[in-house]
Amino acid sequence: MFENKNTPLQGAGVMYQIYPRSFQDIDDDGVGDLRGITKRLDYLKDLGVNSIWLSPIYPSPMKDFGYDISDYTSIDSLFGSLEDFDELVKQAHARDIKIVMDYVINHTSEEHKWFIESKSSRENPKRNWYIWRDPKPNGEPPNNWISMFGGSAWKLDETTNQFYLHTFLTEQPDLNWRNPEVKQAMIDILRFWIDRGVDGFRTDAFAHVFKDPEFRDEPLNPDWRPGRWDYTKFIHSLTQHHPDLYLLYEYFDQVFNDYPDRQLFMISEDYAGLDNLRWHHDHSNPDRFAPINIRFSQLHWDAQTIRQFVEEYETRLKPHEWPNHALSNHDVVRISDRAGSHQIRVAAMLQMTLRGMPIIYYGDEIGMHDTDIPQAQIHDPVSKQTNRPGRDPERTPMQWANQPGAGFTNGEPWLPIAKDYNVFNVDIEQHDPSSVLSLYKRLIQLRAEIPALVYGSYESNNLSTIDVYCYHRRLDDQELLIALNMSYKDQTIKLDVHNYDCVLNTDNSLNCSVRNGYLFLKPHEGVILRKVSSEQN
Ligand code: NOJ
Repeated sequence: MFENKNTPLQGAGVMYQIYPRSFQDIDDDGVGDLRGITKRLDYLKDLGVNSIWLSPIYPSPMKDFGYDISDYTSIDSLFGSLEDFDELVKQAHARDIKIVMDYVINHTSEEHKWFIESKSSRENPKRNWYIWRDPKPNGEPPNNWISMFGGSAWKLDETTNQFYLHTFLTEQPDLNWRNPEVKQAMIDILRFWIDRGVDGFRTDAFAHVFKDPEFRDEPLNPDWRPGRWDYTKFIHSLTQHHPDLYLLYEYFDQVFNDYPDRQLFMISEDYAGLDNLRWHHDHSNPDRFAPINIRFSQLHWDAQTIRQFVEEYETRLKPHEWPNHALSNHDVVRISDRAGSHQIRVAAMLQMTLRGMPIIYYGDEIGMHDTDIPQAQIHDPVSKQTNRPGRDPERTPMQWANQPGAGFTNGEPWLPIAKDYNVFNVDIEQHDPSSVLSLYKRLIQLRAEIPALVYGSYESNNLSTIDVYCYHRRLDDQELLIALNMSYKDQTIKLDVHNYDCVLNTDNSLNCSVRNGYLFLKPHEGVILRKVSSEQN
């Protein structure tokens, strides 16, 4: 149904997610800024990334650190100005790096002028831009919907005596996408940024945008137990993954059609399982849209679980559809803590050798860890309002150098810097050929050097064991075998054919132990092998 001419962001590209507050501070106010990102573009170029996704940089009261936007077409002064943004785009493009903006579509900030108007009276022309309902006769909220950030998803506005819906914080009222004016306004925002040179978007909270128009109660989750996340008390069949969501892809595709000379691209946030990932592929133009696969953040890190997931996803993807594998982001525990420090290299090799566009969360490439945040320095509303772990630990400042402020700031950083910044930092790692950073760089280079790693098919094989995940990537006569020891024990794999060359070891060397048709792997060791064709023997 869709013509397939994949953009460079898909499949072939490597994306890098920047949490702007924490990347590089130029004006020493302790918060990162756009000029800081521009300053570090050479680093990103050297790393080999093709695009950077910026978590929100728009004006915001920062109740949810930028995911509560009060003006979609400007830049928060904390981060700089539109001129700084234009300069960033210019400099990024000069280095062949694309810019991807966070597109927060489910809600605005309560301080957005649309909401201020909407709230002002029941008769205001913008009233229906948000989701307002009358209280029940007993004064209770209109239904049992609950917020992801704790409590009812409805807040009473006492002046107009109606409740408004907020899937996240009370300060983040949900937009009413069923109103054509809202759709138009949100689409105009896309155009604004595309006209300013932006190459793509990451859509926030995609699954939540359309809700049940009848506002029925959601069913209780029979599997919920006290102590589990309150939000999971209900099955969110009426507030998430509504069938009407396909409309969003239609709207966005129409906008992109107006820019035939641009290779625009959008990735969507969705934590749901394979059926929902498949839903995105089924309802969107694969040339332009794809969901982010952040399931790696929820799966147990062992060879069998990871393999089963990847293989099932691959089986359900068509050759021109791309997965976008992310190991971490600003909402989940970093991979180095989830999989364990010893597995960072295996995780990197996995991510860079699977089909699709890998998305690297800033700092993962130097092995950054989550950082314990003292009570007094907690910022994240999730820590303050829910029984879930907060997200500050994975948002701490980038570790550039072994100096006060870690090269991030000369001021007081907004979140504490990890104590191990003297070991895990760019300065040290870029001069150490065996560092995690050097491994990432080499893996990204390999994607440019070996087409099978990008365009090759993913092929399952029977070499995998309980502890070792093995797969092939194949393109024409190029055949690679990736073998990842996800355990703390030595492992031996009997190879299918004898003639393999070592392309890369997770220690960033060319030493792979292949002898007499066997591959020997040390604990937490991964290798990329290339099959040597019989003519070369
Ligand atoms: C998902 C974002 O990634 C998260 O940081 C934010 O809190 C919610 N959406 C609400 O926008």
